[in-house]
Amino acid sequence: MKLAVTGKGGVGKTTLAGGLARLYADKGFRVLAVDADPDANLASSLGIPSERMETVVPIADMKDLVAERTDSKPGTFGTLFKMNPRVDDLPDELSVEHRGVKLLVLGTVKKGGSGCVCPESVLLKSLLSHMLFARDEVLVLDMEAGIEHLGRGTARSVDAMLIVIEPGQRSVQTAQSIRRLASDLGIERFYVVLNKLVEPSDRELMEAVLDGLPLLGTISYRPELRRADLQGVSPYDTVPAFVEELEAIREELERRLGETA
Ligand SMILES: Nc1ncnc2c1ncn2[C@@H]1O[C@H](COP(=O)(O)OP(=O)(O)O)[C@@H](O)[C@H]1O
Ligand SMILES: [Mg+2]
Repeated sequence: MKLAVTGKGGVGKTTLAGGLARLYADKGFRVLAVDADPDANLASSLGIPSERMETVVPIADMKDLVAERTDSKPGTFGTLFKMNPRVDDLPDELSVEHRGVKLLVLGTVKKGGSGCVCPESVLLKSLLSHMLFARDEVLVLDMEAGIEHLGRGTARSVDAMLIVIEPGQRSVQTAQSIRRLASDLGIERFYVVLNKLVEPSDRELMEAVLDGLPLLGTISYRPELRRADLQGVSPYDTVPAFVEELEAIREELERRLGETA
């Protein structure tokens, strides 16, 4: 199962991605959680103590590794380098493991204009593609709102893209534009998770405006979730009602994927 979680900033992507990763691990699956957000904080949502993350360098910032794998000189740009670097050892070598989840922090490539092809982005793309095609664990990708990390071809092996929204019209527009982008990339299955639900009746209201985007489930607004974030602990460990909602979302996801398989 390969899942990508997207949505606009602050909607709860990292909360959902971290929670689902922990849930699948508790079910006995091997799980690889991938932080592809420049503002990387999936670790705390997974419950990894911040001390353990102090020495972790995002892969995009590992200059020597990037140079070695792509056969390029550090910091070069536009010169010749390998387009198919070896990456198969990286998920195990560079991840931090916690409660059955391996976390890999990708970092971001600073773009030098559109269409930049630099060694860092080649390494990240190769790595993502490897994790999507060649590894058989559950993969949970926490992505920034943009999904350009996923190239054509790579995106097609995402089993489901989960778009997180909050109650409100603006969220629906974001969801629709993500869907267009993702379907251009070849992703076929999109599902919406409605987070920060306060009024239960908002569920029907939102479903009505989603224009056919299927709603997998909802996560209630709970001050305890924000508090967990502030304290740097995982809501998965501290908020049982949140875990119940995650479980319902997971069941609905598997039911729907089973139907279309
Ligand atoms: N259901 C919820 N109830 C209360 N606070 C939430 C809820 N979901 C997320 N939050 C809080 O909102 C903030 C943004 O969530 P986060 O998962 O980091 O969003 P994103 O990854 O989309 O930027 C965090 O402080 C988080 O604790
Ligand atoms: Mg986030």
